[in-house]
Amino acid sequence: MTRAPRLSVLLLVLCLPICLTAQVVTIASDDYAIALQVDALKRLETVYFGPRLADPADYAAIGGQLGYRGTNEDFFNHAYTPAGTWNVAEPALEIAHADGNPSTELSYVSHQTQTLEEGVSLTTIELMDSLYQTRVRLHYKVYSAPNVFEQWATIRNGESGPIMLKKYASANLYLRNERFFLTQYHGSWAEEMQPETHELTAGTKVLDTKLGTRSHLYGPPTFRLEFDQPATEETGKVLLANLAWSGNFRFEFERDRHENLRLIAGANAFAAEYQLQAGESFETPHFIYTYSEQGRGAASRQLHRWARQYRLYDGEGERLTLLNNWEATYFDFDEEKLVELFDGAAELGVDLFLLDDGWFANKYPRNSDGAGLGDWTENREKLPHGLGYLVKEANKKGVQFGIWIEPEMVNPKSELYENHLDWVIRQPDRREFYYRNQLVLDLSNPEVQDYVYGVFDRIFTENPGIAYVKWDCNAVIYNAFSDYLDREGRPQTHLYTDYVRGLYRVLERVREKYPEVPIMLCSGGGGRVDYGALQYFTEFWVSDNTAPLDRVYMQWDYSYFYPAIAMCAHVTNWDRTASLKYRTDVASMGKLGFDIEVDELSEADLAFCQQAVRNYKSYSDILWKGEMYRLQSPYEHPYASFQFVDPAQARSVMFSYLVSRRFETSYAVEPVRLQGLDPAKRYRVTELNLYPDAHTPFDGSAVYSGDFLMKVGINPAVTAWRQSVVLQIEAVE
Ligand code: DGJ
Repeated sequence: MTRAPRLSVLLLVLCLPICLTAQVVTIASDDYAIALQVDALKRLETVYFGPRLADPADYAAIGGQLGYRGTNEDFFNHAYTPAGTWNVAEPALEIAHADGNPSTELSYVSHQTQTLEEGVSLTTIELMDSLYQTRVRLHYKVYSAPNVFEQWATIRNGESGPIMLKKYASANLYLRNERFFLTQYHGSWAEEMQPETHELTAGTKVLDTKLGTRSHLYGPPTFRLEFDQPATEETGKVLLANLAWSGNFRFEFERDRHENLRLIAGANAFAAEYQLQAGESFETPHFIYTYSEQGRGAASRQLHRWARQYRLYDGEGERLTLLNNWEATYFDFDEEKLVELFDGAAELGVDLFLLDDGWFANKYPRNSDGAGLGDWTENREKLPHGLGYLVKEANKKGVQFGIWIEPEMVNPKSELYENHLDWVIRQPDRREFYYRNQLVLDLSNPEVQDYVYGVFDRIFTENPGIAYVKWDCNAVIYNAFSDYLDREGRPQTHLYTDYVRGLYRVLERVREKYPEVPIMLCSGGGGRVDYGALQYFTEFWVSDNTAPLDRVYMQWDYSYFYPAIAMCAHVTNWDRTASLKYRTDVASMGKLGFDIEVDELSEADLAFCQQAVRNYKSYSDILWKGEMYRLQSPYEHPYASFQFVDPAQARSVMFSYLVSRRFETSYAVEPVRLQGLDPAKRYRVTELNLYPDAHTPFDGSAVYSGDFLMKVGINPAVTAWRQSVVLQIEAVE
C-alpha cells in the first residue's frame, strides 16, 4: 500500500537547510555524545545519544534526518519536558506558577561550556518560560575518559510570588532505538539487589520509592538499560545509572509513539511538592550514568574508575580490614568481653576492631533494639571506663578502634524522645508506627542537624584515637510530619527533600572536621546506597546477609555500579553450612572484615583465616585500584568467576565458586577465559587461601601466556569438594 507523504516528511524536506544551521548543543565524552537542538519554537530537543561523531560539525545535520521535528503532533524529545502546554507525555517539570497557572513553556536562552579540570567539563543551558520569568538551568557534567555523564537541573523562581514545584526531575533523556531491556533491582532486608530484566513495552514503567530515610530498602536508585537485546559482559549497548540521592527517587521509562524511550529520572515528588519563594532556586539531585557499546563489563569499569577518581570518598585511598562484634555478641557484652575480643582481632591480623550497637544509654540501656537509641553516652555498666579506655586497650594490642552509631534515629524509650519530642518525625495527633522500634529525627530542622553532627563530634573529641565509624540507619519514615516546618510556616511537603539536604549538611560538616576517618555507610545492610551518600562515605555495608552463596549474587550485581573498594564484606557465621573457606573467599572480594568469635575457631580455622588476611593484604591493591571482570555469571552457570587485574597488567586475582550442585555440575569441565591481561606477558598461576594441608593443582609451577589465558582460559578446578578457589596470576620476567 502506498501512503501519501506525511506532513512531517514534507516538513523534513523543507526544513533541511534550516536544520543544517540549527543551534545545536553538543555534550561529548571521549567516546559518546548527546546532541541537543533548538527548534523553530525555541524548544530544546534531544536529537542524538550515541557514539561521538568524528566531525563535530556533523551534529548540526542530525536534526534534519528526523521526521518528527517541526510538528507538535510527533514531538516527544524535549530535553526537559514541561507540563501544561503542548506536552502530552510524562513531564520532567511541573510548576504551579505564582498566579496558580499550571502551564510552563521552556525556551532556549543560551548555553555555555566550561572546563572544570582536565577531563571534566560542565555545560549549562539556560531555558526560560515565555510567559513567566521562571528559569531552568540544565547542567551536564561530563567526565570524558570514563564516559560518565552527570545531569541535574536548577529551577529559579523569577516571579513576584511563590511558585510550587510539583515535579522536578534531574534528567529527561531521549533514547532512540528499536528495543530496550531494563534490568531493575528489588529486595528487602538481607535480600538486597535481586535483578529482574524485561523488555520495555509501550507505555510507562515506573521504579520508585516512598520510604524517606532507609529509602532503598525495597529497591536501589540504580538500573541497567540495554539496547537492541540484552547485552553480555563483552558486547552490547549498556547504560548504567544511579540517582545520587539518599531519599525517595522515581525513574520513569516511557516508550513513546515512535517506540523511542523517554527516560525521566529524579527525586520522587510524591508528597514532596516544593515551594519556592520569589528569587529562590531549587537544585535537583544529580543523575549519573555511563554508556558503553562494548558490553556490561566495559560500562561498569567506566563507572568504577569514575567512582574511585571523582565520587567515592577517598576512592583512591587505602582501607582497613576489621573485626566486628555484632554477630559475635549482639547486645550482650561488657568491657571485659570486648577487651578479650581485641585479642581476636590482633590474632587474625586485621587492622581494626569495630564495636557495634549496644554500647550506650543509661536510663534506658541499649540492651536490645527496643530502647536507648538517641542517648549517646557510654552505658556505665557495660563500659565503666568509657570508650577512651577501649581505644587505648585496643591500641595496646596493635589494633585500631572504631564505633557504630545511628544518629538519625530515636527509640521512643529514650531520654532524647522524652526531652525533644519536637525533634521526632511523627504526626502529633496520630498513633505512632515504628520500624525496628524506632522513629526518625527531623533533619530538616537545623537544631537537629547540630545535634546529629554533635553526636559524631563529641565521640571524637572526647575519645581521641577513634579510627573508624559505622553509620547505620534502620528505619523508614512513617507519619511524615515535621514540627519544625510547621513552626516555620513551610509546607510539610518539604520534609522528604529537606531531610536529605539536612543529612548532607551534617555529613559535609563531619567531613570538614574529620577528613581522614573512614566511615561505613550502613542501612541495616544496603538499605541506602547511592552516589549522593558515597561522596561522604568510604564504603558501604552490602547486606546483613553474609551467607556466601547469596553474597556471590549480591556482590555480582552491586559490582555493576560500585567498585570493590566500596563494598564491605565480612566473614560471619550467618550460614554455618558453608565452609569457612567459601565464606572467607567471598568476603575477600570486597573490603574484608570478620564478624566471628575468633577464640572459637579451631587451630586450623584460625591458621586459615590468618593466612587469608595476609593474602588479602598482598593483593588488596589489585581489588581496590584495578579493573574488575565478571567472567562467569552465577545466573547462567553452576559456577561464578570474578577477576581483578592491576593497572600494570602484572598481577591478577581470580575468584571462582560453585553456586549449584544440580546434575553434572559438581566438577567444572570447561576452562574460564581470563580478561584484561597482557597477551605478550607470561603469568604464573598459584592458588591462594588454601585450607591447611589441602592439595592444589596450582602449585605455582605452571606458567601460561596472557594470550593463552585469555583465549583458552584456565580451569580453576572447582568441584563439589573445592567449592571456592582463589587463584593468583602473576607476570614472570
Ligand atoms: C543493622 C546493621 O546492618 C547490622 O550490621 C548491625 O550494625 C545492626 N544494625 C545493629 O543494630
